[in-house]
Amino acid sequence: MTAVGIDAVEIWTGNLKLDLPGTFAPQKGEDPEKYTKGLGLNASSFPDSYEDIVTMGANAAHRLMERKGLAPDDIGRIDVATESAFDNSKPVSTYVAGCLEQVFDGDFHHANKGERKFACIAGTQSLDDACNWIRAGRNRGRGALVIATDTALYARGDAGEATQGAGAVAMYISEDPDLVELSTGQGYGSADETDFLKPNQQFPSVDGKRSVQVYLARMREALEDYESVAGDVHPDDVAFVPFHTPFPGMVRKAAMLAYRHVIRDTSIEDELAEEIGRQPRPEAFDSDEAYRDAMREYMDALKETAAYQEWYDATIDPTLSISREVGNWYTGSVHIARVSALKRALEDGREMTDEMLLVGSYGSGAQAEIHAETVQDGWEAEIEALNVEEQLEDRYDMSWEDYEEIHDAHNHDMDVDVEEFTTPESEFVFDGWGRMGERKYRYVE
Ligand code: HMG
Repeated sequence: MTAVGIDAVEIWTGNLKLDLPGTFAPQKGEDPEKYTKGLGLNASSFPDSYEDIVTMGANAAHRLMERKGLAPDDIGRIDVATESAFDNSKPVSTYVAGCLEQVFDGDFHHANKGERKFACIAGTQSLDDACNWIRAGRNRGRGALVIATDTALYARGDAGEATQGAGAVAMYISEDPDLVELSTGQGYGSADETDFLKPNQQFPSVDGKRSVQVYLARMREALEDYESVAGDVHPDDVAFVPFHTPFPGMVRKAAMLAYRHVIRDTSIEDELAEEIGRQPRPEAFDSDEAYRDAMREYMDALKETAAYQEWYDATIDPTLSISREVGNWYTGSVHIARVSALKRALEDGREMTDEMLLVGSYGSGAQAEIHAETVQDGWEAEIEALNVEEQLEDRYDMSWEDYEEIHDAHNHDMDVDVEEFTTPESEFVFDGWGRMGERKYRYVE
């Protein structure tokens, strides 16, 4: 079977930055270490006043098409995954295509366009749709453009305000990809939950603490479901595990549960047994409560072992480096985790071809999905071509007053005009409203 997967990826961050320990924490009267150590975040990205989900998505796609020498005719499908859409009918992908047609010769009149919604997991679902479209032989030799773009803003004062972010990830999906091949085996954990939702409102209603538990429960189900189709996962077989990362502290919790699960009945559990005993099995306990207590104790001990810490440092920590500087990008979040990991491998001079990634996506509401990816031999050139660090460094570092202004400027219920903090260059910008309430965009040289 021909390999199908991600051929190329590009990232576009919002042009503003909020320093969490330096600017946000003091205003909230909180210890900066709650952010850097607890949540695991240094900063959040924000959109300047001329940026939105369309400009960020189109800018990422523009970079990707230019770098790969792609023309509109090479693209048979454009899907945008977002939970920040501003129109219930016209999909963001039509706006993105309109932007790209301003700068490329040709058009996307014969490309199938759509928009995917299921909280943060929609980015991975779009990826999946694109792969299936190619595997079904409907692509006529063309590839698909998948764009995950969000402005993840929370209401002022909401606990989620600390985990905001804004940015886009564009991916080109094709046969014989340069970056990663996607497995056909997948596992799902899905249930009707009300942990995080936006019932026709811009800012989410969130039960933050519960959302953490729902994430962990669905992810565990997805892992079990994945193993039922792909066989048991062994830690030694997996190079990196990029998880959906609303904030790195969340992934710390998910990683701990995943590790406990995958070492069960392996030689790793046997070796650790001398140090911390074997994992509790439910059948050995009279009540659920007693089992849960024993498991908590085992997990506390497992967390302190050298085996766990080495696995975490090698397999999980490298996936978090971009997230730490940008916050939650919702649909794009798991896709920047993949890039972070491969960036680290490149920096370490590690050979990754044929290595396996186990990707854990998640969307509130709620659904987790797990699939495997095999790194392809063009990965180094693809990752080398990214300019993520430059983008992050170029962001304008907002004062608290700047932050208050820009949050208001992006609040759909407020009518606030704000001067831009940065000067757009070689990018698409929001250019005002049309007569039917549509948004207009322009490319700035
Ligand atoms: P909070 O109440 O502000 O924070 O809310 P906290 O008091 O729970 O502290 C956070 C962590 O920092 C804790 O670590 C503290 O102990 C630690 P933990 O115990 O959990 O390991 N801490 C410190 N550490 C070191 N030094 C200190 C210090 N102080 C505290 N001085 C919450 C946190 C996540 C609830 C909030 O930010 C929130 O509501 N976020 C939004 C919801 C969210 O991100 N949920 C994640 C799971 S759901 C998801 O991922 C889906 C989502 O992306 C949406 C979608 O799918 O569309 C959100």
